[in-house]
Amino acid sequence: MSHAWRPLFVVIGLLAVVFIGRAVFVPSDFSAKNGDYKYQWHREGNEDDWKNFKVKYKGGKEYCGECHDDEFTWISASKHANVQCENCHGPALGHPEEGPEKLAIDRSRDLCLRCHAKLPYRPTTYNELPSGPIRLAMQDPDEHNTDVECVECHDVHKADFKE
Ligand code: HEC
Ligand code: HEC
Ligand code: HEC
Ligand code: HEC
Repeated sequence: MSHAWRPLFVVIGLLAVVFIGRAVFVPSDFSAKNGDYKYQWHREGNEDDWKNFKVKYKGGKEYCGECHDDEFTWISASKHANVQCENCHGPALGHPEEGPEKLAIDRSRDLCLRCHAKLPYRPTTYNELPSGPIRLAMQDPDEHNTDVECVECHDVHKADFKE
């Protein structure tokens, strides 16, 4: 047989590997639904997996306000009105009935600096486009009252100075 045929056998061999590999590894419910390869090319069982996925966050601060009236009232009237409670206190699924009985309180500078650390590349002028950066009071962590927790001086729920 001519040596010119050999590459053909290599190609056939590779194709066989691909098809056998596909049969072994791709789940049987992975296909194009309604023949739609653009949007519905996925594993059908995945839909149920996501439906059963437990959401750990309760969402709006109104939920917290049912029991933590003070914090809710203060923050709603403050510049932190758009910052959700769970953003700082963590996910509240089960709180307080099934537990955690108390949510974590992080008093570290790091908590605040997540949003308030001055960034060298952040623009100093703003536009009003929805996609533009929001106005946010920034502080240089290496200059602004170093070595003291922010909450010693600032009231976080009022986004103002402590009284
Ligand atoms: C059904 C009432 C209820 C709801 C709703 C609720 N909590 Fe609580 N929370 C409690 C109780 C009770 C405690 C334990 C007693 C306490 O410290 O006030 C607590 C404790 C806490 C603590 C710890 C307070 C401390 O002094 O250690 C934080 C923080 C907290 N909750 C935040 C939240 C946030 C954020 C939400 C909303 C996502 C929320 N809670 C929703 C009842 C509730
Ligand atoms: C920007 C971060 C942030 C947000 C948003 C926030 N908290 Fe807090 N929370 C803190 C910090 C930090 C403390 C500790 C304050 C201190 O020691 O001065 C605290 C303390 C608390 C406490 C303990 C009692 C107290 O006042 O010290 C409760 C209860 C609480 N928060 C509930 C809430 C609820 C309810 C919301 C939303 C309505 C909320 N927090 C929103 C950061 C936050
Ligand atoms: C998730 C982001 C986020 C976190 C975390 C956060 N802040 Fe803010 N903070 C904001 C936003 C947004 C505003 C409103 C825009 C502004 O005025 O800077 C704000 C406003 C403020 C203001 C008012 C600034 C002014 O212009 O008068 C103070 C003070 C402040 N935050 C302090 C704190 C402190 C202290 C902490 C930590 C305990 C903290 N923030 C954590 C997002 C955050
Ligand atoms: C020792 C007290 C003290 C500590 C600690 C402190 N600050 Fe301040 N902060 C001030 C004072 C006083 C001002 C107003 C004068 C200035 O801008 O320095 C201020 C201003 C601010 C402002 C601007 C508020 C406005 O009205 O424009 C923000 C935001 C802020 N601080 C965030 C923080 C954060 C975040 C931390 C922790 C990383 C922190 N501060 C730690 C005392 C403090």
